[in-house]
Amino acid sequence: MPAKEFAKIVVTWQQQHGRNDLPWQQHNDPYHVLVSELMLQQTQVTTVIPYFERWLQRFPDVTTLAAAEEQEVMAHWQGLGYYRRARNLHAAAKTIVADYAAQIPEQAVELREIPGIGPYTVGAIRSFAFNAPAAIVDGNVKRLFARLFMLPYAVNHSANDRYFWELAEHYTPTSQNRRFAQGLLDLGATICKPKQPLCHACPLQSRCRTYANACVEDYPKRKQK
Ligand code: ADE
Repeated sequence: MPAKEFAKIVVTWQQQHGRNDLPWQQHNDPYHVLVSELMLQQTQVTTVIPYFERWLQRFPDVTTLAAAEEQEVMAHWQGLGYYRRARNLHAAAKTIVADYAAQIPEQAVELREIPGIGPYTVGAIRSFAFNAPAAIVDGNVKRLFARLFMLPYAVNHSANDRYFWELAEHYTPTSQNRRFAQGLLDLGATICKPKQPLCHACPLQSRCRTYANACVEDYPKRKQK
């Protein structure tokens, strides 16, 4: 399917059925995007929301966070788990203040230099904060592509990540990528779910290769570890 057509389907669906009232979506503030995306790695949206709100109360901007004591930063992460994310976020804030005059940069080459910001977070900041045409790939996006195109690539094998990134880059639209990226995540989380996907409600149903072959739940493929 042509990339333009794919983007239009996802964007239109997101507008009508996606999530548009999440607290980190309200200002397109790069700092809000950074905090929320690190919290959302390994943690569900409903768990993250109250943590995100408390975090912004105490650390409203990157300068406040950079100046805070490690102990207090960790206390505000307490309960979210994967505490390395909090240390990374604190280190990222210090780098942003020291090297970028407290402004989160837009360019990928700069974002990549910041500790704790990996390829997913680079794409998320560029997409959600700046509406730039940047690809994002997480578990939701991989599952959606694996099913839509009936991909044989195991999603839990990092050597395959490049296939998913190439696809994501190919389909990333040059305009409205903020909504497109959110739409991919929303489709993955609410429709193209790991178990019992809601194919009847999916805007991509008529283009989905695994749906046509009645094998949606056999995908994505996983490698035996
Ligand atoms: N998971 C990761 N990023 C997200 C976002 N922006 N909205 C909802 N879920 C997400």
